[in-house]
Amino acid sequence: MSHWTVEDMPDQTGRTFVVTGANSGLGYETARRVARKGGRVIMTARDQGKGDAAVERLKREHPDADAELRLLDLADLDWVRAFAHDVPDPIDVLVNNAGVMMPPRSLTKQGNELQFATNHLGHFALTGLLLERLRRPVAADSPSRVVTVSSTLHRRGSIHFDDLTGERSYNPTAYYAQSKFANILFGLELDRRLRASGSTTQSLLAHPGYAATNLQSSGPTGFMKSLMKVSNVVMAQSAERGALSQLFAATAPEAEGGQYIGPGGLGEQRGHPKVVQPVKSAQDPELAQRLWALSEDLTGVRFVFP
Ligand SMILES: NC(=O)c1ccc[n+]([C@@H]2O[C@H](COP(=O)([O-])OP(=O)(O)OC[C@H]3O[C@@H](n4cnc5c(N)ncnc54)[C@H](OP(=O)(O)O)[C@@H]3O)[C@@H](O)[C@H]2O)c1
Repeated sequence: MSHWTVEDMPDQTGRTFVVTGANSGLGYETARRVARKGGRVIMTARDQGKGDAAVERLKREHPDADAELRLLDLADLDWVRAFAHDVPDPIDVLVNNAGVMMPPRSLTKQGNELQFATNHLGHFALTGLLLERLRRPVAADSPSRVVTVSSTLHRRGSIHFDDLTGERSYNPTAYYAQSKFANILFGLELDRRLRASGSTTQSLLAHPGYAATNLQSSGPTGFMKSLMKVSNVVMAQSAERGALSQLFAATAPEAEGGQYIGPGGLGEQRGHPKVVQPVKSAQDPELAQRLWALSEDLTGVRFVFP
């Protein structure tokens, strides 16, 4: 995989992908590349106008693309349930991509902190509700997969079990890191549970390094927003390059369950996809089980393994 690019992606005809947050950034690039290789893409967005514009843009470039829009707000667990109920199956690959970064503190309809709710809980619930709808049996070289998108910032994360909503002490960066740390704990625990159940479905993790997208302007405020405006120009790679890790995780036959894929360049900030390692604390099965139980309680979703 040393210099894997989208040109190495196998044909995806006959396979269905659900990509969350597909109207923008890495999600859009993921949908675009999969559609170009013949895959059917269910693109989710929380805003009808933005979602329609993304599908139109994709179809302008690839008129034969099999792409459709479904509305989904991951911060609202009622919406997640309704979406999961209505989405057509079977699904081959679920890409848990949507995310929000470093907004001022706010709580969702169900009372959860926005970043934890969107980035982790919404995807936890969605995965649990769709797991049985992932395709099986599958060909050995094209297993069904769940790909969860984390970040190098997970390294600064921990789970604030005693202040999950940041009521006592909210810091936008720390709570973003918490949500991305939770992505890793979840993806690895899902891999362990899938293997233990004998399922052929695989759980993988990916991160893009640093890619210039709307992420850096939609969440942060004040000084952080200004700083990121500059660093987006000076340091970031394109969304197209940033999406390579999750595209590899979603489609490469040689990728394996439990792997974390990130850019191979300096500091994992840019470059071609390779297997990278999450921080040790995010690989702790006991911590993952504690988060899993909490996530089941907060979402009301219990996973059923075959
Ligand atoms: N860009 C980077 O350098 C970087 C680095 C590390 C990790 N990541 C991760 O990559 C993923 C994709 O981010 P991106 O960089 O492509 O950012 P982006 O361009 O801002 O895209 C984020 C997507 O998530 C959607 N979203 C936000 N809140 C949502 C909600 N409550 N319900 C449903 N969808 C929601 C956004 O919808 P709207 O357009 O309506 O806001 C958008 O479609 C995120 O998980 C992020 O944490 C990105």
